[in-house]
Amino acid sequence: MLDVTAIRKLHQQRFKHAPEVFIAPGRVNLIGEHTDYADGFVMPAAIDFATLAAISRRDDDTIVIESENFDQRVSHKLNSLPAKGKHHWSDYPLGVITVLREAGVTIPAFSLTLNGDVPLGAGLSSSASVEVASMMAILSLTETSLPLPQVARLCQRAENTYVGASTGIMDQFIACCGAEDHALLLDCRSLEFRLAPIPPHLSLVIANSMVKHSHAGGEYNTRRAEVEEGTQILRSHRPEIRLLRDATLDDLKKWGHEMRPEVLKRCRHVISENLRTVAAADALEKGDLAELGRLLYAAHASYRDDFEGSCKEADILVDLASREAGCIGARLTGGGFGGCTVNLVEREQAAAFSEHLRDGYRAATGIQADIYLCRASAGVPAI
Ligand code: GLA
Repeated sequence: MLDVTAIRKLHQQRFKHAPEVFIAPGRVNLIGEHTDYADGFVMPAAIDFATLAAISRRDDDTIVIESENFDQRVSHKLNSLPAKGKHHWSDYPLGVITVLREAGVTIPAFSLTLNGDVPLGAGLSSSASVEVASMMAILSLTETSLPLPQVARLCQRAENTYVGASTGIMDQFIACCGAEDHALLLDCRSLEFRLAPIPPHLSLVIANSMVKHSHAGGEYNTRRAEVEEGTQILRSHRPEIRLLRDATLDDLKKWGHEMRPEVLKRCRHVISENLRTVAAADALEKGDLAELGRLLYAAHASYRDDFEGSCKEADILVDLASREAGCIGARLTGGGFGGCTVNLVEREQAAAFSEHLRDGYRAATGIQADIYLCRASAGVPAI
């Protein structure tokens, strides 16, 4: 459990100033994978793993950032921040400073202590939680207060332009606007959203395959480029298709043969996933758990077969989950190529489910999975 009092004390001892402390959660995505950058739909929930950011002003011209997770400190003169990320944990807060500056915010000298318990590289958006917590902390030292959706947009920009990962808006948005015991259906074009309660008799069980993934560089950006390649072909026939959000499965039937086979599959995943995500929100709202579960499993199959974004370990986890009593649905969550599965499980059976999953996974792979029983949580408090 993260300890606000402990980070406050630590920061005060280290920097001799009492800090303000901010908290931003990680997330699990129930459904809607690789749809956000196509202006589509996603349905994540914020979780009770988070990043704490303790901040205080400094009297010099320096920015000092200390990570408890990495047990490291970086320090930069205010007027000579690195222009780009270097694949280092400090890229996230430095990216946040950079985009705030570009947005016209004057950044004072400060000391920042970061500490989080979102598992790193597990597809639970540790990076977005660091960005959002850091941005709220830094904004608290300035005269600027920004609406949360704009905070999310700026944090996404930090990740895109400074860290170098072409990610969409989902993770930062849910870190900002999540609500306790609710999933959030987000229209990634308009940023309109609605909250759907997660029934109290269900648990969110997250199973970590322990296969690490990374967004900066690697397969995430390749997939995104493939989606863009397919979009261009559809756009050449129907210019009103800005992004795959605007395309239909019929469009693919007509013009998919002009695409490279893997590009066709990526597009089919994104277009069908948008349909599944909207249907899943309806099913959750109606309490139609059978339909919700069917959609989760179908989403996993599409992620695995069409998007080719899964890995054999995640497939094993989903397969094992599907055989368990009390499991409503399961799928790989997040950016893919490793990370965690999300499992909607009847609360009374969640403990037995987790034990069976852990045992079955160890028997099949030799890997000891971490399993977290999570609760949908609130986003960052507004300042
Ligand atoms: C990562 C990105 C998100 C989203 C997901 C895939 O988490 O940060 O923007 O694209 O992958 O759905």
